Amino acid sequence: MAELTELLEKEGVDKELLAGAAEFRKAYLADPDFADRIPEVSALYYGKTVWEEAVAVLLSGRNLLLAGPKATGKNLLCENLAALFGRPVWNVSFHIGTDAAGLIGTDTFDGEKVSFRKGPVYMSAEKGGFCILDEINMARNESLAVLHAALDHRRIIDVPGYDLIRVDRAARFIATMNYGYAGTRDLNEALSSRFAIITMPQITEENMLRLLQRNFPDISERIAGQFVKLFGELARKAEKSEISDRAVDMRGMLDALDLIRQGLSSGQALELTIVSKTFDRYEQTLIRDCIGSRIPADLDRSLVFTG
Ligand SMILES: Nc1ncnc2c1ncn2[C@@H]1O[C@H](COP(=O)(O)OP(=O)(O)O)[C@@H](O)[C@H]1O
Ligand SMILES: [Mg+2]
Repeated sequence: MAELTELLEKEGVDKELLAGAAEFRKAYLADPDFADRIPEVSALYYGKTVWEEAVAVLLSGRNLLLAGPKATGKNLLCENLAALFGRPVWNVSFHIGTDAAGLIGTDTFDGEKVSFRKGPVYMSAEKGGFCILDEINMARNESLAVLHAALDHRRIIDVPGYDLIRVDRAARFIATMNYGYAGTRDLNEALSSRFAIITMPQITEENMLRLLQRNFPDISERIAGQFVKLFGELARKAEKSEISDRAVDMRGMLDALDLIRQGLSSGQALELTIVSKTFDRYEQTLIRDCIGSRIPADLDRSLVFTG
């Protein structure tokens, strides 16, 4: 964690904000029973401004919503933030069937007696954890009403028939929401008004180059540069609605390089991880053209990796 602070200082993140996070860690020691829920920093989120905004929001006691295109590092940032603040994490992946029981908890029968099994929202409220509400817009707004009082100044969870739960002072809710240039399922005002919302930018060219080099230390610099340019070009085409944003996929870019390392040609790899992300034949042709103008289809691992 001290290490993370150092890394962030090197990224130019404001020192006072980092000192604030360090104070927070000292003031709210995490329950040792849940120490294994404090994430390790396996990779760093790159983006100084987003870091500063996110840390400021959490220090101010507010909850955070990270909204933006997929693969912009939302989940990575969530984990990094929990590591910085030294908080155990409880994660909920939202889907159309998510209901209060899945969030707060539910009665279970162990063969002898009925007992209450606490859900992730309950646990983080009680233990001062960070609760990641992942892809919150995928749930029905109505089924999230149970969160309203937890997310606003009341900081309580009041489910009829159960104890009143107070949200610990160190607990925060961090929601993520994928929306592309074309837009997707929305979040109603009752919920969105309870968060400070960061619109997640696509990674900068410079940082994407660092990301590729971090993941593939032996990648040819010239080819890494071409991947960066290709990603930018796909993103611009999606912004102009020439293609959908399905192919603007950072994970797909990294996967392609992995597959090349496994032995596929560059053309095959990018077909599997980028072109095929859209199912529209015409759009596939546009994406293939875009790739072809940057990256020859017959590169193999000996050309892409120089190590
Ligand atoms: N700004 C960034 N800094 C570091 N990694 C990033 C960034 N943007 C995207 N990535 C990479 O993209 C991939 C997807 O990140 P993830 O957090 O799962 O995205 P999201 O939750 O927004 O879909 C990860 O491998 C991550 O390392
Ligand atoms: Mg995600």
